[in-house]
Amino acid sequence: CGIVGYVGPRPSQDILLAGLARLEYRGYDSAGVAVIDGDGSLGMRKKAGKLAVLRDSLADAPLPDGSTGIGHTRWATHGGPTDVNAHPHLADDDKLALIHNGIIENFSALREELLADGVVFRSETDTEVAAALLGREYAGNGGDLELAFRSVVNRLEGAFTLLAMHQDHPGLVVGARRNSPLVIGLGEGENFLGSDVAAFIEHTRKALAIGQDQIVSITPDAVTVVDFAGTPVQPEPFDVSWDAAAAEKGGWSSFMAKEVAEQPEAVANTIRGRIQDGQVVIPELDGLDELFLGINRVIITACGTASYAALVGKYAIEQWARVAVDVELAHEFRYRDPVIGADTLVVSISQSGETMDTLMAVKYARERGARTLSICNTQGATIPRESDAVVYTHAGPEVAVASTKAFSAQITALLLLGLHMGRVRGAVADASVDVAELAALPEKIASVLEGEQEHVTQLAGWMADTRSVLFLGRHVGYPIALEGALKLKEISYIHAEGFAAGELKHGPIALIEPGQPVFVLVPSPRHSALVHSKVVSNIQEIRARGARVIVIAEVGDAAVLPFADEVIHIPLAGAMFEPLLAVVPLQIFAMALATAKGLDVDQPRNLAKSVTVE
Ligand code: G6P
Repeated sequence: CGIVGYVGPRPSQDILLAGLARLEYRGYDSAGVAVIDGDGSLGMRKKAGKLAVLRDSLADAPLPDGSTGIGHTRWATHGGPTDVNAHPHLADDDKLALIHNGIIENFSALREELLADGVVFRSETDTEVAAALLGREYAGNGGDLELAFRSVVNRLEGAFTLLAMHQDHPGLVVGARRNSPLVIGLGEGENFLGSDVAAFIEHTRKALAIGQDQIVSITPDAVTVVDFAGTPVQPEPFDVSWDAAAAEKGGWSSFMAKEVAEQPEAVANTIRGRIQDGQVVIPELDGLDELFLGINRVIITACGTASYAALVGKYAIEQWARVAVDVELAHEFRYRDPVIGADTLVVSISQSGETMDTLMAVKYARERGARTLSICNTQGATIPRESDAVVYTHAGPEVAVASTKAFSAQITALLLLGLHMGRVRGAVADASVDVAELAALPEKIASVLEGEQEHVTQLAGWMADTRSVLFLGRHVGYPIALEGALKLKEISYIHAEGFAAGELKHGPIALIEPGQPVFVLVPSPRHSALVHSKVVSNIQEIRARGARVIVIAEVGDAAVLPFADEVIHIPLAGAMFEPLLAVVPLQIFAMALATAKGLDVDQPRNLAKSVTVE
C-alpha cells in the first residue's frame, strides 16, 4: 500500500492526491484521503478502484480545504477492495482517521476485546481494529494523541506502517513503522510522510529515514522521532537524488514504455563512478573486503524479476570470483533451515528495498551470522538499512509495476559486484576486456531499442490472440527466458513459461504443437561453439514439431536462419553481457502485446509493485 501525510500551510488535498499518484504502483485496489479543515473538523473520502475514481469523486464534491491530511492507496489483504474496506478508517466518533500498510497479526484478539467493549465495526479490515484501539486509548488518556498512538503500536503484532490524525489536533500527523516503510520529507514550514520518497519528491529533496519500531510526529515546523518506549531518537538525514521529473510520464504512452527506453541511461548511471584505472572498484564497498574474503559460498536471494537478475549474477560471480553461488527465492530460503553462517555472504536484490519476503530473508541471514549485502534502487529503504553493505542501482524511480530498467540495473550491479569480488579475491587478473564490455553496454542497449522496437511491436500485434508463449534459453539466456515469460504473464495475462533449453526434451516438449510460438535466446557462437550448437539443435527439435520459432540472436549468426520464423538481432557482446541486450525485445514484446489487447501495462490486475506483506 502507498501512504502519504502532510502538514503545512497549503490545502492538503491536492498534495495528497499527487503523492498518491506517485505511489499508486504500491497498490491500486482502492484509495482514500482525510483532511482536517480550518474549523477543526475532519473530512474523509474513500473509493474502491484506481485513484482516478477517488479523484473524480473529489472533483465532483471536494472536501473542505484542510492543511493537515493523510492519504492511502491500497493493495487488499484483509477484506476485498470495497469502499468500506478502503482507508482511512475512522474512530472516536469520526474525529480520528488512520491509515495502514501491512498486516496486524493479532487483530482478531484485539477485535474481540473491542467488540466486548461495545465497539461497532464497519469493515472487515485489521486496520479498523487499530483505529478503534487508538480511539479508545485516546479517550482513555484525556486526549493525548501521541501517547495513545504509542500505546497502540506497542499492542500490535505483525508488520505495519500507521499514520493517524485527530481533528482536535490540527497540524499534527503521527506515524509509526515496524517492518514496513515510512520516510519523512522536510519542507519549509511544512513536512511530509510517505511510504517512500516518491510521495514528496516534487516538494522536497531533504529526507529523514525512520528506523524500525519508531514513532514520528510531524507538525509544520517540527519533526520528532521516538522509539516505541518513548525515548527520543535521531533520524538519519539523506538527500534524495531522484528528481521529480524522472517520476513523471512525460510524453510517453506509459511509464513502462518510458522505463524501457531509459535503460541505456539506467545502466550507464549504475556503472558511473565504479570503474577506476580499468578495474571495477565500488566505492561503497571500500574497506569492506572482509565481506568477500573467507567466504566459501554466496547466496543471492530475491523475489520476482529481481530473482532472475540474481540468476544472471550467479553465472557472473562464479566465473569471475570463483566462489559457489546459489540463488534462492527469499520466501523459500527463509522458511526452511538453510546451512549458512559466517562463511556465507547473502546478497539480496530488491528494487524497492521493501519487499517483505526479501527483508525477512535478510534479517534471518543476519541472525544466523551470515554477512549481508543488498543491491537496491531506493534510498532510505529498509533492506539496505538491515544489511552490512549496499550497492545501489541508479535506475531512477521505476513506476510501472512490471520491472524493466531496474532489472537491467540489477544485472549491471551484479556484474560490477562479480568483477569487484573477483579483484578483491585475486581471482581476476585482468578485467580490462570486461570493463570495456560494461562501458559499451548503454550504447548497445540503445541500438537494440532503435533497431528492433518496430519489428517486435509488429510481431506482437500479429500475436494478440495467442494463448500461450514459451521461452527457451541456456546459460545466462535461461534467466532471460524466465524473465521474458514473467513480463508476458504480468502485463498481458497470457500463459507463458520459460525453460532451460536443455530441459525441453525432459518434459516441456510435450507442449509443442503446430503453431506454438517459442522464443529462443541464442548465445553467441563466439562464446562457446558447443553451447551455441546445442541451442541450435533445440531449435530444430521444436521446429520439427511445428513450433513457430522466434529467435533472438547476435547479428551475423547465420546458423539460426534456416530454422527461424523470425529473427530479432542483438549486437555482439561478451557472454555475461548478452542478457542486458536480449531482454529488451522481450520487454517490448510483452508491452506491445498487452497494448494490442487494450490492457493497462502500468497497472496490471492483482499486482502491486512493492509487496510489503509476506
Ligand atoms: C513484486 C513486483 C515484481 C517485483 C517483485 C520484487 O512482486 O510485482 O515486479 O519483481 O515484487 O520487487 P523488489 O522491489 O524487491 O525488486
